Amino acid sequence: MLDQMSTEALIDVSNLTISLHSTGFAVVNGVSFSLKSGEFHGIVGESGSGKSLSVRAVAGLISDRVFDIKADRFELFGTDLLNANKRDAATARLSAAMIFQDPAAALNPLMRVGDQVAEAAMLGLGISRPEALEQAREALTQVALPDVDVRMRQFPDALSGGQKQRVMIAAALVARPKVIIADEPTTALDVTTQLQVLSLLKGLARESGIATLLITHDLGLVSQTCDRTTVLYAGEDVESGPTRDLIENPDHPYTQALLDSHPASTTGTLNPIPGVISPSASMSERCRFLQRCSAAGASCQAAIPGVSQSEHRRSRCHYSTLEGGA
Ligand SMILES: Nc1ncnc2c1ncn2[C@@H]1O[C@H](COP(=O)(O)OP(=O)(O)O)[C@@H](O)[C@H]1O
Ligand SMILES: [Mg+2]
Repeated sequence: MLDQMSTEALIDVSNLTISLHSTGFAVVNGVSFSLKSGEFHGIVGESGSGKSLSVRAVAGLISDRVFDIKADRFELFGTDLLNANKRDAATARLSAAMIFQDPAAALNPLMRVGDQVAEAAMLGLGISRPEALEQAREALTQVALPDVDVRMRQFPDALSGGQKQRVMIAAALVARPKVIIADEPTTALDVTTQLQVLSLLKGLARESGIATLLITHDLGLVSQTCDRTTVLYAGEDVESGPTRDLIENPDHPYTQALLDSHPASTTGTLNPIPGVISPSASMSERCRFLQRCSAAGASCQAAIPGVSQSEHRRSRCHYSTLEGGA
Protein backbone atom coordinates (compact mmCIF):
# COMPACT_ATOMS: atom_id res chain seq x y z
CA MET A 1 0.00 0.00 0.00
CA LEU A 2 2.71 2.47 0.99
CA ASP A 3 4.83 1.63 -2.05
CA GLN A 4 1.87 2.09 -4.32
CA MET A 5 1.22 5.51 -2.79
CA SER A 6 4.78 6.65 -3.22
CA THR A 7 4.80 5.87 -6.95
CA GLU A 8 1.42 7.57 -7.43
CA ALA A 9 2.37 10.74 -5.61
CA LEU A 10 3.95 13.60 -7.56
CA ILE A 11 5.18 15.14 -4.34
CA ASP A 12 5.84 12.73 -1.49
CA VAL A 13 7.21 14.16 1.73
CA SER A 14 7.46 12.19 4.92
CA ASN A 15 8.79 13.35 8.29
CA LEU A 16 10.34 16.55 6.94
CA THR A 17 12.41 18.46 9.45
CA ILE A 18 13.96 21.84 8.67
CA SER A 19 16.31 23.15 11.37
CA LEU A 20 18.29 26.33 11.67
CA HIS A 21 22.04 25.66 11.59
CA SER A 22 22.51 28.59 13.96
CA THR A 23 20.37 27.29 16.83
CA GLY A 24 19.53 23.69 15.86
CA PHE A 25 15.87 24.62 16.33
CA ALA A 26 13.43 22.72 14.10
CA VAL A 27 11.13 25.34 12.55
CA VAL A 28 9.50 22.50 10.59
CA ASN A 29 9.29 19.36 12.68
CA GLY A 30 8.29 16.00 11.20
CA VAL A 31 5.83 17.21 8.56
CA SER A 32 4.34 14.78 6.00
CA PHE A 33 2.27 15.59 2.93
CA SER A 34 1.78 14.32 -0.56
CA LEU A 35 0.30 15.55 -3.81
CA LYS A 36 -1.30 13.06 -6.11
CA SER A 37 -1.93 13.33 -9.81
CA GLY A 38 -4.83 15.70 -10.63
CA GLU A 39 -5.27 16.62 -6.99
CA PHE A 40 -5.82 19.99 -5.31
CA HIS A 41 -4.14 19.75 -1.90
CA GLY A 42 -4.27 22.45 0.76
CA ILE A 43 -1.64 23.27 3.37
CA VAL A 44 -3.21 25.54 5.96
CA GLY A 45 -1.98 27.18 9.14
CA GLU A 46 -1.36 30.52 10.80
CA SER A 47 1.49 32.78 9.84
CA GLY A 48 4.78 31.29 11.09
CA SER A 49 3.55 27.69 11.08
CA GLY A 50 6.14 26.56 8.52
CA LYS A 51 4.02 26.40 5.35
CA SER A 52 6.34 28.40 3.12
CA LEU A 53 9.53 26.75 4.32
CA SER A 54 8.04 23.29 3.73
CA VAL A 55 7.09 23.96 0.12
CA ARG A 56 10.07 26.15 -0.67
CA ALA A 57 12.26 23.25 0.38
CA VAL A 58 10.53 21.11 -2.26
CA ALA A 59 11.08 23.84 -4.85
CA GLY A 60 14.76 24.16 -3.86
CA LEU A 61 14.31 27.73 -2.71
CA ILE A 62 15.77 27.66 0.78
CA SER A 63 19.43 28.09 1.53
CA ASP A 64 21.36 25.11 2.87
CA ARG A 65 23.72 27.60 4.47
CA VAL A 66 20.90 28.62 6.82
CA PHE A 67 18.81 25.45 7.08
CA ASP A 68 19.42 21.76 7.53
CA ILE A 69 16.79 19.63 5.75
CA LYS A 70 16.11 16.04 6.78
CA ALA A 71 13.30 13.69 5.80
CA ASP A 72 12.43 10.01 5.64
CA ARG A 73 11.13 10.65 2.14
CA PHE A 74 11.49 13.81 0.07
CA GLU A 75 10.47 13.04 -3.48
CA LEU A 76 9.34 15.08 -6.46
CA PHE A 77 8.15 13.00 -9.44
CA GLY A 78 9.93 10.03 -7.90
CA THR A 79 13.28 11.86 -7.64
CA ASP A 80 14.80 11.76 -4.17
CA LEU A 81 15.61 15.46 -3.76
CA LEU A 82 17.90 14.96 -0.76
CA ASN A 83 20.16 12.38 -2.39
CA ALA A 84 19.90 13.06 -6.12
CA ASN A 85 22.70 14.97 -7.84
CA LYS A 86 22.03 18.66 -8.46
CA ARG A 87 21.19 18.16 -12.13
CA ASP A 88 18.56 15.48 -11.52
CA ALA A 89 16.99 17.52 -8.74
CA ALA A 90 16.91 20.60 -10.98
CA THR A 91 15.35 18.59 -13.83
CA ALA A 92 12.58 17.33 -11.55
CA ARG A 93 11.99 20.86 -10.25
CA LEU A 94 11.53 22.20 -13.82
CA SER A 95 8.12 20.49 -13.88
CA ALA A 96 6.97 22.15 -10.67
CA ALA A 97 6.09 25.84 -10.94
CA MET A 98 5.74 28.17 -7.97
CA ILE A 99 3.33 31.07 -7.66
CA PHE A 100 3.89 33.55 -4.84
CA GLN A 101 1.76 35.84 -2.73
CA ASP A 102 2.95 39.12 -4.11
CA PRO A 103 2.88 39.29 -7.91
CA ALA A 104 4.07 42.90 -7.84
CA ALA A 105 7.34 41.81 -6.25
CA ALA A 106 7.75 38.77 -8.48
CA LEU A 107 7.29 40.65 -11.76
CA ASN A 108 10.06 42.75 -13.23
CA PRO A 109 8.66 46.33 -13.39
CA LEU A 110 10.97 47.21 -16.29
CA MET A 111 9.98 44.37 -18.58
CA ARG A 112 6.84 44.19 -20.71
CA VAL A 113 4.25 41.67 -19.60
CA GLY A 114 4.46 39.63 -22.82
CA ASP A 115 8.25 39.46 -22.65
CA GLN A 116 8.17 38.21 -19.06
CA VAL A 117 5.86 35.34 -19.85
CA ALA A 118 7.80 34.61 -23.06
CA GLU A 119 11.04 34.51 -21.08
CA ALA A 120 9.55 31.82 -18.82
CA ALA A 121 8.66 29.84 -21.97
CA MET A 122 12.15 30.23 -23.43
CA LEU A 123 13.77 29.06 -20.18
CA GLY A 124 11.34 26.26 -19.49
CA LEU A 125 10.86 24.89 -22.99
CA GLY A 126 14.09 25.99 -24.69
CA ILE A 127 12.21 27.57 -27.61
CA SER A 128 12.96 30.64 -29.74
CA ARG A 129 11.67 34.11 -28.89
CA PRO A 130 8.97 34.30 -31.61
CA GLU A 131 7.66 30.86 -30.58
CA ALA A 132 7.82 31.87 -26.93
CA LEU A 133 5.81 35.03 -27.59
CA GLU A 134 3.16 32.93 -29.30
CA GLN A 135 3.08 30.54 -26.30
CA ALA A 136 2.90 33.55 -23.97
CA ARG A 137 -0.13 34.88 -25.85
CA GLU A 138 -1.81 31.49 -25.51
CA ALA A 139 -1.06 31.24 -21.78
CA LEU A 140 -2.29 34.79 -21.13
CA THR A 141 -5.48 33.97 -23.03
CA GLN A 142 -5.87 30.78 -21.00
CA VAL A 143 -5.75 32.76 -17.74
CA ALA A 144 -8.39 35.12 -19.16
CA LEU A 145 -6.32 38.29 -19.09
CA PRO A 146 -8.49 40.87 -20.87
CA ASP A 147 -7.13 42.58 -24.04
CA VAL A 148 -4.18 40.22 -24.26
CA ASP A 149 -2.46 41.92 -27.20
CA VAL A 150 -2.58 45.33 -25.55
CA ARG A 151 -1.54 43.97 -22.14
CA MET A 152 1.42 42.07 -23.55
CA ARG A 153 3.02 45.35 -24.60
CA GLN A 154 2.40 47.03 -21.23
CA PHE A 155 4.57 47.14 -18.13
CA PRO A 156 3.26 45.45 -14.93
CA ASP A 157 2.38 48.79 -13.32
CA ALA A 158 -0.48 49.26 -15.80
CA LEU A 159 -2.21 46.13 -14.47
CA SER A 160 -4.43 45.57 -11.43
CA GLY A 161 -3.38 43.19 -8.64
CA GLY A 162 -5.64 40.44 -9.96
CA GLN A 163 -4.31 40.90 -13.50
CA LYS A 164 -0.73 40.73 -12.25
CA GLN A 165 -1.52 37.47 -10.48
CA ARG A 166 -2.98 36.14 -13.74
CA VAL A 167 0.27 37.07 -15.47
CA MET A 168 2.21 35.16 -12.80
CA ILE A 169 -0.01 32.13 -13.31
CA ALA A 170 0.49 32.40 -17.09
CA ALA A 171 4.27 32.56 -16.55
CA ALA A 172 4.01 29.39 -14.47
CA LEU A 173 1.73 27.64 -16.98
CA VAL A 174 3.66 28.49 -20.10
CA ALA A 175 6.44 26.06 -19.20
CA ARG A 176 3.83 23.25 -18.98
CA PRO A 177 4.35 22.19 -15.37
CA LYS A 178 2.85 19.01 -13.96
CA VAL A 179 2.54 20.62 -10.57
CA ILE A 180 1.78 24.15 -9.38
CA ILE A 181 2.81 25.15 -5.88
CA ALA A 182 0.86 28.28 -4.99
CA ASP A 183 2.03 29.98 -1.79
CA GLU A 184 -0.74 32.31 -0.58
CA PRO A 185 -1.51 33.23 -4.22
CA THR A 186 -4.56 35.30 -3.35
CA THR A 187 -3.65 36.83 0.01
CA ALA A 188 -2.75 40.20 -1.57
CA LEU A 189 -6.06 40.35 -3.49
CA ASP A 190 -9.56 41.52 -2.59
CA VAL A 191 -12.14 38.85 -1.85
CA THR A 192 -13.85 38.85 -5.26
CA THR A 193 -10.54 38.67 -7.12
CA GLN A 194 -9.37 35.93 -4.73
CA LEU A 195 -12.27 33.75 -5.77
CA GLN A 196 -11.67 34.47 -9.47
CA VAL A 197 -7.99 33.53 -9.24
CA LEU A 198 -8.79 30.38 -7.28
CA SER A 199 -11.45 29.26 -9.70
CA LEU A 200 -8.93 29.91 -12.48
CA LEU A 201 -6.39 27.62 -10.77
CA LYS A 202 -9.09 25.06 -10.14
CA GLY A 203 -10.20 25.18 -13.79
CA LEU A 204 -6.63 24.75 -15.00
CA ALA A 205 -6.20 21.78 -12.72
CA ARG A 206 -9.35 20.23 -14.16
CA GLU A 207 -8.64 21.00 -17.83
CA SER A 208 -4.89 20.50 -17.96
CA GLY A 209 -4.60 17.87 -15.21
CA ILE A 210 -2.14 20.03 -13.27
CA ALA A 211 -1.93 18.98 -9.64
CA THR A 212 -1.89 21.93 -7.27
CA LEU A 213 -0.55 22.48 -3.78
CA LEU A 214 -2.37 25.49 -2.33
CA ILE A 215 -0.75 27.12 0.68
CA THR A 216 -2.92 29.50 2.68
CA HIS A 217 -3.77 30.71 6.19
CA ASP A 218 -7.46 30.67 5.21
CA LEU A 219 -9.31 27.44 5.96
CA GLY A 220 -12.32 28.85 4.09
CA LEU A 221 -10.38 28.91 0.81
CA VAL A 222 -9.18 25.37 1.41
CA SER A 223 -12.65 24.11 2.18
CA GLN A 224 -13.94 25.55 -1.09
CA THR A 225 -11.21 24.18 -3.31
CA CYS A 226 -9.08 21.36 -1.92
CA ASP A 227 -9.56 17.59 -2.13
CA ARG A 228 -7.25 16.92 0.80
CA THR A 229 -5.81 19.20 3.45
CA THR A 230 -2.83 19.24 5.78
CA VAL A 231 -3.10 21.52 8.81
CA LEU A 232 0.18 22.88 10.22
CA TYR A 233 0.68 24.30 13.68
CA ALA A 234 4.04 25.58 14.98
CA GLY A 235 5.99 23.57 12.43
CA GLU A 236 4.04 20.34 12.84
CA ASP A 237 1.32 18.70 10.75
CA VAL A 238 -1.32 18.46 13.45
CA GLU A 239 -3.96 16.96 11.19
CA SER A 240 -4.48 15.83 7.61
CA GLY A 241 -7.13 14.09 5.57
CA PRO A 242 -9.85 14.53 2.94
CA THR A 243 -11.01 18.15 3.28
CA ARG A 244 -14.67 17.39 3.73
CA ASP A 245 -14.06 14.85 6.52
CA LEU A 246 -11.68 17.21 8.21
CA ILE A 247 -14.13 20.13 8.15
CA GLU A 248 -17.20 18.12 9.09
CA ASN A 249 -15.49 16.13 11.77
CA PRO A 250 -12.23 17.76 12.88
CA ASP A 251 -10.13 15.54 15.11
CA HIS A 252 -7.53 18.02 16.36
CA PRO A 253 -8.60 20.91 18.64
CA TYR A 254 -6.52 23.27 16.50
CA THR A 255 -8.50 22.39 13.36
CA GLN A 256 -11.68 22.96 15.38
CA ALA A 257 -10.34 26.31 16.58
CA LEU A 258 -9.50 27.32 13.00
CA LEU A 259 -13.04 26.45 11.98
CA ASP A 260 -14.55 28.38 14.90
CA SER A 261 -12.45 31.43 14.06
CA HIS A 262 -13.59 31.50 10.44
CA PRO A 263 -16.31 33.97 9.32
CA ALA A 264 -18.27 31.13 7.71
CA SER A 265 -18.20 29.19 10.98
CA THR A 266 -21.29 27.06 11.50
CA THR A 267 -21.84 28.50 15.00
CA GLY A 268 -22.40 31.93 13.45
CA THR A 269 -20.06 33.56 15.95
CA LEU A 270 -16.42 34.39 15.43
CA ASN A 271 -14.11 32.93 18.03
CA PRO A 272 -10.54 34.02 17.47
CA ILE A 273 -7.97 31.51 18.74
CA PRO A 274 -6.49 33.09 21.86
CA GLY A 275 -2.72 33.50 22.09
CA VAL A 276 -0.02 33.20 19.45
CA ILE A 277 2.31 30.43 18.29
CA SER A 278 4.92 30.51 21.02
CA PRO A 279 8.51 29.55 20.18
CA SER A 280 9.03 28.23 23.71
CA ALA A 281 6.09 25.82 23.25
CA SER A 282 8.00 24.29 20.38
CA MET A 283 11.01 23.50 22.49
CA SER A 284 9.37 21.67 25.35
CA GLU A 285 8.49 17.98 25.65
CA ARG A 286 4.75 18.51 25.48
CA CYS A 287 2.08 19.27 22.93
CA ARG A 288 2.95 22.40 20.94
CA PHE A 289 -0.68 23.55 21.00
CA LEU A 290 -1.10 23.07 24.76
CA GLN A 291 -1.12 26.73 25.84
CA ARG A 292 -3.90 27.62 23.40
CA CYS A 293 -5.95 24.43 23.60
CA SER A 294 -9.38 24.52 25.21
CA ALA A 295 -9.52 20.71 25.40
CA ALA A 296 -6.13 20.06 27.01
CA GLY A 297 -5.81 17.48 29.79
CA ALA A 298 -3.06 16.02 31.95
CA SER A 299 -1.48 13.90 29.17
CA CYS A 300 -0.89 17.02 27.09
CA GLN A 301 1.46 18.41 29.80
CA ALA A 302 3.30 15.14 30.10
CA ALA A 303 4.30 14.15 26.59
CA ILE A 304 4.42 15.08 22.92
CA PRO A 305 1.43 13.44 21.22
CA GLY A 306 2.18 10.70 18.70
CA VAL A 307 0.43 10.28 15.36
CA SER A 308 -3.00 8.66 15.39
CA GLN A 309 -4.38 7.50 12.09
CA SER A 310 -7.29 5.93 10.32
CA GLU A 311 -7.31 4.91 6.68
CA HIS A 312 -7.21 8.41 5.19
CA ARG A 313 -6.60 10.63 8.19
CA ARG A 314 -3.83 11.52 10.60
CA SER A 315 -3.83 13.61 13.75
CA ARG A 316 -1.41 14.47 16.55
CA CYS A 317 -3.53 14.75 19.69
CA HIS A 318 -3.54 12.73 22.91
CA TYR A 319 -7.33 12.77 22.75
CA SER A 320 -7.61 11.80 19.09
CA THR A 321 -10.62 9.70 18.20
CA LEU A 322 -8.70 8.20 15.26
CA GLU A 323 -7.01 4.89 15.96
CA GLY A 324 -4.09 4.56 18.36
CA GLY A 325 -0.81 6.44 18.09
CA ALA A 326 2.17 5.30 16.00
N1 LIG B 1 15.53 32.77 7.20
C1 LIG B 1 15.01 32.44 8.40
N2 LIG B 1 15.77 32.46 9.52
C2 LIG B 1 15.27 32.14 10.72
N3 LIG B 1 14.00 31.73 10.91
C3 LIG B 1 13.20 31.66 9.85
C4 LIG B 1 13.65 32.01 8.52
N4 LIG B 1 12.62 31.82 7.65
C5 LIG B 1 11.58 31.41 8.40
N5 LIG B 1 11.92 31.31 9.70
C6 LIG B 1 11.03 30.87 10.80
O1 LIG B 1 10.42 29.65 10.44
C7 LIG B 1 9.07 29.64 10.83
C8 LIG B 1 8.19 29.22 9.67
O2 LIG B 1 8.24 30.20 8.66
P1 LIG B 1 7.36 30.11 7.33
O3 LIG B 1 7.54 28.79 6.70
O4 LIG B 1 7.68 31.30 6.50
O5 LIG B 1 5.88 30.23 7.91
P2 LIG B 1 4.48 30.45 7.15
O6 LIG B 1 4.72 30.40 5.68
O7 LIG B 1 3.60 29.37 7.66
O8 LIG B 1 4.01 31.80 7.60
C9 LIG B 1 8.73 31.01 11.36
O9 LIG B 1 8.64 30.93 12.76
C10 LIG B 1 9.89 31.88 10.96
O10 LIG B 1 10.19 32.81 11.95
MG1 LIG C 1 4.34 31.83 4.19
